[in-house]
Amino acid sequence: METAEKTYNIDEKDLARLGAVVFEAYGVPREDAEILSLSLAEADIRGIKSHGMVRVPIYIDQFVNGKFSKETKLTVKKETPVSLVLDGNNGPGAVVSARAVMMTRKKAEQSGFAFAAVHGSNHFGTAGYWSEMLAGDDMIGFASTNSIPIVAAPAGTGRGIGSNPFSYTIPANKYASVCLDVSVGVMAQGKIYEYARLGKPLPENAWLGPDGQVTRDPKQWDPMDYVMIPFGMHKGFGLGVVMEMLTSGLAGAEFHRQYQGLNAKMTENSHCFWAMRIDAFTDVKKYRDQVDAYIEYLHSLPVTNPGDKVYYPGEIEAVLKAKYLREGVPVAAKVVEDMLGLAAGASADVSFIKSKYHI
Ligand SMILES: NC(=O)c1ccc[n+]([C@@H]2O[C@H](COP(=O)([O-])OP(=O)(O)OC[C@H]3O[C@@H](n4cnc5c(N)ncnc54)[C@H](O)[C@@H]3O)[C@@H](O)[C@H]2O)c1
Repeated sequence: METAEKTYNIDEKDLARLGAVVFEAYGVPREDAEILSLSLAEADIRGIKSHGMVRVPIYIDQFVNGKFSKETKLTVKKETPVSLVLDGNNGPGAVVSARAVMMTRKKAEQSGFAFAAVHGSNHFGTAGYWSEMLAGDDMIGFASTNSIPIVAAPAGTGRGIGSNPFSYTIPANKYASVCLDVSVGVMAQGKIYEYARLGKPLPENAWLGPDGQVTRDPKQWDPMDYVMIPFGMHKGFGLGVVMEMLTSGLAGAEFHRQYQGLNAKMTENSHCFWAMRIDAFTDVKKYRDQVDAYIEYLHSLPVTNPGDKVYYPGEIEAVLKAKYLREGVPVAAKVVEDMLGLAAGASADVSFIKSKYHI
């Protein structure tokens, strides 16, 4: 029988504060520590646990080993009224991205549209967090990043391209924004652990083993040795190729070509961000009403099984966010304990969380 994982239900602000205290204790300037931690807490609150506070120890390791710079300095390499090329100078991806997003939005406010290509950055977390920030309530936002090669080419046997996630956000009126946020692999690597734990076969045509053959056995190899198959084969693969060229290509950086292990120096992640003012095309309210109407149309579509429901992109995450804002974000005890251990190792005061949650 499965044992339920022990979790703490933590208020999002407390969760973000805990992460920020830990990052600051390891030398990240306070404002940047808050930005970084909030980006992770927001992934947890949307139910994207693989990109939430579970990443704090990984990021701390990158800071401690000098793989991420603690200070983030963004350099403008090239600029026009509608474009930016930025160098993140090896800052943490979320801090680089937060600054790049602000600059992109500001330019789009002035010019109607703006596109930023960024190099010299690192893992930026979930693409949807940035496209939502870019969109606000009056624009359409887009964010993408390249990543280490972990996805096979359709006829390939090994790691070819990154999982290169991308996200579009389109604001609605009555409803949460439409937010499509996907990588180009059928299934995220972290989910193999889950299938192994539950003793379930992997989905069909989702994974190759290191021998280059399709496998459904989640226990045959170390999960990190499996190779993702692109969703829709040539379609996902094609999108992954395009994202690489929109990120590293336009930023003038090296593209990722060789897998050197998850712990390889993770510099030279490149991102791209764009924002487009809706009022450059039509009335913003009218447009957002139309998005509402389309969402209602999607909700009215017939379903195969009674009780099922058609969700629009971003809806599942928005429903979870609303629930977790009310009830607190469920965070695995191990994730909280790891953060407390890191805090203790740097003599940081986290009594606020220990006393409130009886940890
Ligand atoms: N920074 C990186 O290097 C990196 C790499 C890979 C993934 N990621 C992030 O990991 C996260 C997960 O990526 P993924 O590829 O596993 O995404 P996924 O397969 O979980 O798909 C998520 C998207 O599909 C929508 N969705 C899910 N179920 C739906 C349903 N039943 N009906 C309608 N829409 C539905 C969601 O609203 C969301 O937009 C994303 O936030 C992504 O940005 C980051």
